[in-house]
Amino acid sequence: MRWPGKPGPGSPGRGGLHRGARKAGRTTDPTDPTAGTDGPGPGGGEGGGEDGGPWGPPPVIEVRALVKQYGQGDAAVRALAGPVDPGTGEPAGMDLVVEQGDMVAVMGSSGSGKSTLMNILGCLDVPTSGRYLLDGIDVGGLDEHQLSLVRNRKIGFVFQSFNLVPRTPALAQVELPLAYAGVKAAERRRRALAALDLVGLADRVGHRPNELSGGQQQRVAVARALVTAPAMLLADEPTGNLDSHSTEEVLGIVDRLNASGRTVVLITHEDEVARHAKRVLRLVDGRIVADVRQAPVDGPPPALRDPGAFAARAPRAGHMSGVSHSTEGAQAAHAVQAASAPQEARPARALPAPPQAPQALTASETTGGPRP
Ligand SMILES: Nc1ncnc2c1ncn2[C@@H]1O[C@H](COP(=O)(O)OP(=O)(O)OP(=O)(O)O)[C@@H](O)[C@H]1O
Ligand SMILES: [Mg+2]
Repeated sequence: MRWPGKPGPGSPGRGGLHRGARKAGRTTDPTDPTAGTDGPGPGGGEGGGEDGGPWGPPPVIEVRALVKQYGQGDAAVRALAGPVDPGTGEPAGMDLVVEQGDMVAVMGSSGSGKSTLMNILGCLDVPTSGRYLLDGIDVGGLDEHQLSLVRNRKIGFVFQSFNLVPRTPALAQVELPLAYAGVKAAERRRRALAALDLVGLADRVGHRPNELSGGQQQRVAVARALVTAPAMLLADEPTGNLDSHSTEEVLGIVDRLNASGRTVVLITHEDEVARHAKRVLRLVDGRIVADVRQAPVDGPPPALRDPGAFAARAPRAGHMSGVSHSTEGAQAAHAVQAASAPQEARPARALPAPPQAPQALTASETTGGPRP
């Protein structure tokens, strides 16, 4: 896996192309169709509307001019393209900035590029061209080994198909990332139990995947994703295999994680899931065609802002969707590897706190771990 070119002299690395202070007075009225959007323009571009001033923390995600093309010639598919550059007639690439603490839903019909985007944001795949800064780190400038460390330290993955290790009890599933990080057994157990308690599974710690419901399995996966306190939770159709009750349980946990400061990016086909997000992006043919802010970055997500009103607006039945889902085999392998790779040891918390300022990778931190 090779990124398209490393940053040249003077190009931004840690700290980003821009620093992401909150934009004062930003419109957040959910009835305002321009809320949270930013029309194309110099330095702006699609999806770039969350950029602020020079004082805040770096955005968790900052991508610029991202293009992903599969195949060549007549068989070429541009899965991520962004708007067409009027000068050249070529795709200008996708721009997207996601600030710390945001909760973003990515929607779009089958084949619109959602999983392609998620795979690049999760450092599971590389773009054909473009830049990506993850929590202030230019991942294009990292070698494979550094990339695996950044991925394992910064991102918690949740996939539609759960991706739990077969025949392994829930506690061991959640301990796994900590075991590879060298966290001592007692501390490992304490933190894994806390994470399982957080997702409401304190009474199922000894259960294996085949002894758990789909919703419970996904909650184990969420506990595994959050036990290392990553900068961001990346979820691809996390409720796609769940019934409505389990969907609400998992979304309730994600809401609370976001309310505690965790950045969340989730892909979904379902309006009911997207309305939990603070911001909703819609993709069509590899470009962002709508970017709507439903709640401010700062503060709780919609379901926790006014729970009564949120529940009252719940649709009675049915979702959109009806579209097929691509297989997630490669993601599954990476999810298990990511979950089992070295992680930074941090003290357990009832709810993992949002990440602090990014720390430089030291040489010792970039050695010794398995490569995804
Ligand atoms: N490995 C690949 N080789 C060639 N084309 C690919 C590959 N992966 C994805 N594509 C194409 O890229 C486009 C975007 O695919 P992607 O999986 O990102 O869609 P998606 O929005 O996640 O769809 P779904 O909702 O069905 O999961 C599709 O046209 C798809 O056929
Ligand atoms: Mg997909």
